[in-house]
Amino acid sequence: MPTYLVTGGAGFIGSNFIRYMLGKARDGRIINLDALTYAGNLENLADVSADSRYAFIRADICDKRAVNDVFAANDVDVVVHFAAESHVDRSIEAPDVFVRTNVLGTLNLLNAALRAWDTGTGFGAGKKFVHVSTDEVYGSLGPQGYFTEDTPLDPHSPYSASKASSDLLVKAYADTYGLPVNITRCSNNYGPYQFPEKLIPLMVNNALQGKPLPVYGTGVNVRDWLYVEDHCAAIELVAREGAPGEVYNIGGHNEMANIDIVRLIIRTLRDMLEAGDPRRERVSESLIRFVQDRKGHDLRYAIDPAKIGRELGWAPRTKFADGIRRTIAWYLENGEWLQSVTSGAYQSYYQRMYGGR
Ligand code: NAD
Ligand code: TYD
Repeated sequence: MPTYLVTGGAGFIGSNFIRYMLGKARDGRIINLDALTYAGNLENLADVSADSRYAFIRADICDKRAVNDVFAANDVDVVVHFAAESHVDRSIEAPDVFVRTNVLGTLNLLNAALRAWDTGTGFGAGKKFVHVSTDEVYGSLGPQGYFTEDTPLDPHSPYSASKASSDLLVKAYADTYGLPVNITRCSNNYGPYQFPEKLIPLMVNNALQGKPLPVYGTGVNVRDWLYVEDHCAAIELVAREGAPGEVYNIGGHNEMANIDIVRLIIRTLRDMLEAGDPRRERVSESLIRFVQDRKGHDLRYAIDPAKIGRELGWAPRTKFADGIRRTIAWYLENGEWLQSVTSGAYQSYYQRMYGGR
């Protein structure tokens, strides 16, 4: 394995990616650069922290000196750039930090990679900057159709607008300077270590505590769900074999309306919790509350993943029925993790968002 610089490796997808890579390769190195915001948690990597192939650096991707120092001290081959502010509701509340991290932070990383890798006559073999983006940059679909790599960018939320801006900067660095890049645009991920501000872990966490389950609007909005490990496999493949300059959409044709996800979580929890467990008695559809809709709420996302299947041979391996059970089992087995991340900063955010409902 080459030397990877993973940004945002202490977050949900980044920590799953690092574990996936260390499990797959025997040699190589992974440097995890993360500022440890509210969403970054080194507990997510406790099981791999002693691995000699792994190193953690606490730094902000906007910090020019810190990022340049990492490139100067390490012969980085591949950047996998996850670090971002990632939650749409927070971006509606406070957009500024999304522009700072997602746009200016990405620009800073691009500059550092260019400076380290540009030999004047080209870029060394095996160098690659993989920018992990989202299907949300394409905007919203009606009841029909899919996002392809040619769908025009039409972001609506401050989050997706900041991601689209960073995508365009990455493209500009490829077009202008020849930086070897790929952009991946994945649909909604689910799985272990997802911060419980996102739909699935939030509903699991609330249901276990007998707290209301806040469904925005009427719950008809559709998302296309992919198990996080399938996303990690796709990113690894793109880093290794993606043609420079190309965009790859990643998704597994698994569209679900939000209300159906919430009902499925309730059924699965009732099925998995043992009779007599007091939490089982609390979990019921009577907890569902239809609350005020998200501002500018995108109706539907759905990815056409034909290109990555055809060109790189990627296909998702985890069926949603299995992935959701595995995910819920993980949250049931990791109550302490859930408790530690839902204390402090997250609690005050939750109070502001849902006002104790
Ligand atoms: P996350 O919020 O769980 O993790 C983000 C990580 O980035 C955290 O560890 C945080 O500490 C770190 N970070 C934030 N600001 C930073 C800064 N200024 N400097 C250094 N580190 C910083 O996010 P996630 O859900 O794991 O998403 C990772 C990436 O994947 C994001 O770029 C996101 O846009 C993209 N993505 C996410 C999904 C999804 O469903 N979660 C889907 C498609 C794409
Ligand atoms: P989310 O997990 O925030 O991902 P994204 O907005 O990036 O797709 O939300 C997924 C869907 O669930 C989205 O349509 C908004 C909805 N949602 C709720 O209905 N209630 C909630 O409490 C949350 C967090 C999301």
